[in-house]
Amino acid sequence: MINGLEDVVAAETVLSDVDGARGRLLLRGAWLDDLVATSRFEDVLTRLFEGFFPVEGDVTGQLGAARAEVFALLDATDATLLALPPIEAMRALLARLTDGDDLPTALRLVAAPAVFTAAVLRLKSGQTPIAPSPALGHAADILRMTSGTTLSDQQTAALDRYLVTVADHGLNASTFAARVVASTGAGLTSASLAALSALKGPLHGGAPGPVIDMLDAIGEPANATAWLSDALDRGDRLMGFGHRIYRVRDPRADALKTAVRLLANSRAIDPARLALAEAVEAAALDLLKRKKPDRPLNTNVEFYTALLLEALGFPPNAFTCVFAMGRMAGWLAHAREQVTTGRLIRPKSVYVGPIPEVA
Ligand code: SDX
Repeated sequence: MINGLEDVVAAETVLSDVDGARGRLLLRGAWLDDLVATSRFEDVLTRLFEGFFPVEGDVTGQLGAARAEVFALLDATDATLLALPPIEAMRALLARLTDGDDLPTALRLVAAPAVFTAAVLRLKSGQTPIAPSPALGHAADILRMTSGTTLSDQQTAALDRYLVTVADHGLNASTFAARVVASTGAGLTSASLAALSALKGPLHGGAPGPVIDMLDAIGEPANATAWLSDALDRGDRLMGFGHRIYRVRDPRADALKTAVRLLANSRAIDPARLALAEAVEAAALDLLKRKKPDRPLNTNVEFYTALLLEALGFPPNAFTCVFAMGRMAGWLAHAREQVTTGRLIRPKSVYVGPIPEVA
């Protein structure tokens, strides 16, 4: 039995390739670095959907229309959801979307985490949800629905870069969950709910929020080594570090650090916050190398995600919701790929429990 299915190939895919040895990410034949420099989220969505959904024409407008359709699913009873953490409230709302396997269903599912998260955050702060503006790009409308104002081009570009960076990433736990559920024929909403539930775990997409807690607990660069050393001595995992596949630095860490630096240059991030993060990262890498010499543990996608989403005004307990806004594109493409090219996913298990004496 291979614990955690490590190194087990469970699917062939044309969607993405995670090169753990060289620290490179390929999305449908394009390097991540090229995509973040040239493409908006809608372009990468189209790229991932090609061949799996009949995408054509103005995807920005179609996604905007889908946001408006999803917004209509909100109602006054939603205040009862506010006792839940944002990810659980968003999950409950996502379940309102009916199952299907067509493009309109897929676009509503891409729109849903954005619309529902913004609405939940507004309701939680005693404000009324803001209806989508279908003519806007997805990243711009997310920030407008959440903040109530139109943010700067730099802030919109930073969120767009984030959504592109996390859109797809091979057979990670949440994407695998989506493929398992899709393989039974359950439909795209069911596959997305399974994926979202997997994503919320702290070992997976639930990591960026605790990165902020770690930075706040450390407080000053001078405290980093002692605080991190104590955490490792307690057996804690350092959030934002390590990866099942990457044996070198996650290429997305630098893609997002660039976005963070762009925000710092436009005064949207306190330079001292960035300096603290860089000091914590350096101390963590040094300690992990010394304390876990046999396991390369480098910075992963979540470390600079935390700084970026904090600077864009999202509360740490909603960072996983924002992760889902981008990763939904990958989940849906993989779900369709599993249905169109795969079969029911049903591995075996080895029984190790007691066996009664033969009667
Ligand atoms: C994401 O798969 C994907 O692609 C995921 C993702 C995506 O885009 O979908 O990239 C997104 O989930 C990124 C990871 C976010 N999670 C975190 O940052 C949480 C902290 N990281 C870890 O818990 C851990 O690194 C994992 C879960 C990410 C990967 O763990 P593995 O591959 O299962 O490794 P392991 O748990 O078997 O650990 C191996 C050793 C252990 O030491 P020993 O107990 O054997 O002595 O490395 C240690 C671990 O304790 N270790 C860490 C560590 N990560 C692993 N020690 C301290 N801090 C860490 N972060």
